[in-house]
Amino acid sequence: MNIQKSLLALALFGIAGWAQAAPNCAIKLKAGDDMKFDQKSVTVSAGCKSISIELQHSGKLPVAAMGHNVVITATPDAAGVAQDGIKAGAAGGYLPAGDKRVLASTKMIGGGQSATATLAGGKLKAGGAYTFFCSFPGHSALMRGTVVVTP
Ligand code: CO
Repeated sequence: MNIQKSLLALALFGIAGWAQAAPNCAIKLKAGDDMKFDQKSVTVSAGCKSISIELQHSGKLPVAAMGHNVVITATPDAAGVAQDGIKAGAAGGYLPAGDKRVLASTKMIGGGQSATATLAGGKLKAGGAYTFFCSFPGHSALMRGTVVVTP
């Protein structure tokens, strides 16, 4: 192997190694006045020390009319948390206080605002079934998606 080929092989190996080693530790979602998230599925790594969640509300309507948040639960818990969130009311951010089923949540925001939250590493198991949704009344049926967790 000449030196050029060796360097090329090294470079390719380096890129492949980096791609495998880099875990995805961020969830970035956008939602507007059309009551939809911009993604139906997000992927993160179970190996992350912490996972950042970022929500951008790209609409114009105020939080009282078109509030959005990001709530992450195990998929079997999503419907129950959404239901209990409605009972918690606007003052409670449409989320039951101190609910252990809620693995992470941002605050409820209106158009032009953004919110962030952090999900502690280790809460998500690789291959587990997790759902993200908006807990504003009436939104969770449309505003939901899958959190895919890779090792
Ligand atoms: Co919403």
